[in-house]
Amino acid sequence: MLGRDSETSPDKPTLMDGGNYIKEGRDSAKSTCLIFSPNEEAVGALAKSLKLFEKHGVNLLHIESRPSARVPDRYEFMVECAPSGELGIAIETLREHSSYFNIISRNHKDNRDTVPWFPCRIRDLDKFANHILSYGSDLDANHPGFKDPVYRARRKYFADIIYNYKHGEPLPHVDYTEEEIATWGSVFRELIKLYPTHACKEHNHVFPLLIENCGYREDNIPQLQDVSNFLKDCTGFTLRPVAGLLSSRDFLAGLAFRVFHSTQYIRHSSCPLYTPEPDVCHELLGHAPLFADPAFAQFSQEIGLASLGAPDEYIEKLATCFWFTVEFGLCRQDGQLKAFGAGLLSSFGELQYSLSGKPELKPFEPFKTAVQKYPITEYQPIYFVAESFEDAKEKMIKYAHTIPRHFGVRYNPYTQSIELLDSKPQIEGLVDNIHQEMQILLDALRKL
Ligand SMILES: [Fe+2]
Repeated sequence: MLGRDSETSPDKPTLMDGGNYIKEGRDSAKSTCLIFSPNEEAVGALAKSLKLFEKHGVNLLHIESRPSARVPDRYEFMVECAPSGELGIAIETLREHSSYFNIISRNHKDNRDTVPWFPCRIRDLDKFANHILSYGSDLDANHPGFKDPVYRARRKYFADIIYNYKHGEPLPHVDYTEEEIATWGSVFRELIKLYPTHACKEHNHVFPLLIENCGYREDNIPQLQDVSNFLKDCTGFTLRPVAGLLSSRDFLAGLAFRVFHSTQYIRHSSCPLYTPEPDVCHELLGHAPLFADPAFAQFSQEIGLASLGAPDEYIEKLATCFWFTVEFGLCRQDGQLKAFGAGLLSSFGELQYSLSGKPELKPFEPFKTAVQKYPITEYQPIYFVAESFEDAKEKMIKYAHTIPRHFGVRYNPYTQSIELLDSKPQIEGLVDNIHQEMQILLDALRKL
């Protein structure tokens, strides 16, 4: 869930770049992490490098080593530095004496050379899970549940059960109240009337499967775990509960791992067809069906991969592309306009409005879409129309190539980790993999 919803409407263990480094220091929010391979192969190269930090009064919070994937027969080291001493001078000196060097930091705004921190393993998502913009019962004064102490207590309950969630654990099971189920029922009843005529064919294909497999019914709010299991079988996407809005950077990073951060609470019962923020109706009726579609899943992951380590201004552009596609996207199918954005598919009013011929329509083109301004508290005046998910994906990949980043990224589904591709041996390894895949392809073709 990213951003608003008009009826929809985005510390523990840190880092590490390029590999499965394990631990983080005491203050990962401020620390700077360096990964380097010393120029010299000789024993004692690490000790020499560490002396540099001592010389410049830099405190080290954590040190790890491993065989380098980038420089054959060499080791590389990760050091986590506290903001202390002459860190800038130590960094530049070390860079001169290294055959590989990279800086990653949570604190990247202070140093233009650093790459913003991003999760490299799926369990790294635990590190920002609770970096949410509001917590539990903290509601805006104009929220429909603001003056309802029972609703606020319930929101705190949802936030509390999610707060301690860690990757790999079962998703919290919730016994929804009768009132909550009635709210869900009101939304469900109205939306399913519109889906056959307004939703894209992928949504209409998956929705009956969710009814069959995940308990989608007017009198039942499906459990996140059941929906997550279903999505995993379809595309490898999983749901991860989140207590509130994440930053765009953190939210998009989840998509790189095919993880969708999903709220579990429901909107206030006084306005079943309106919510000022994403809720379980938005996530399960709007988002979940599309994540079961392979092409859409790939498209969403491409946005996530493009966001990793991207400069802040590009995060905003990618979040805008996400907004106009995954949240409010339209597409043309068999000559007709259909909705695939979750903000539309979970909004009885906006779903009809978006296809009414009143709003302006523009073709989805990331270079233009990424800079389009949009309101967050009313219906969208402009919608972007994708030719297909495949077409949108190809365009996003081309757009991602223009993001200034000195490394490539690839998701390794076996290890559920991000591989940073910034050296020749890694690329050669990838070429070998592709060669093996080609052999499988050729063998299969021969048998046809
Ligand atoms: Fe959303």
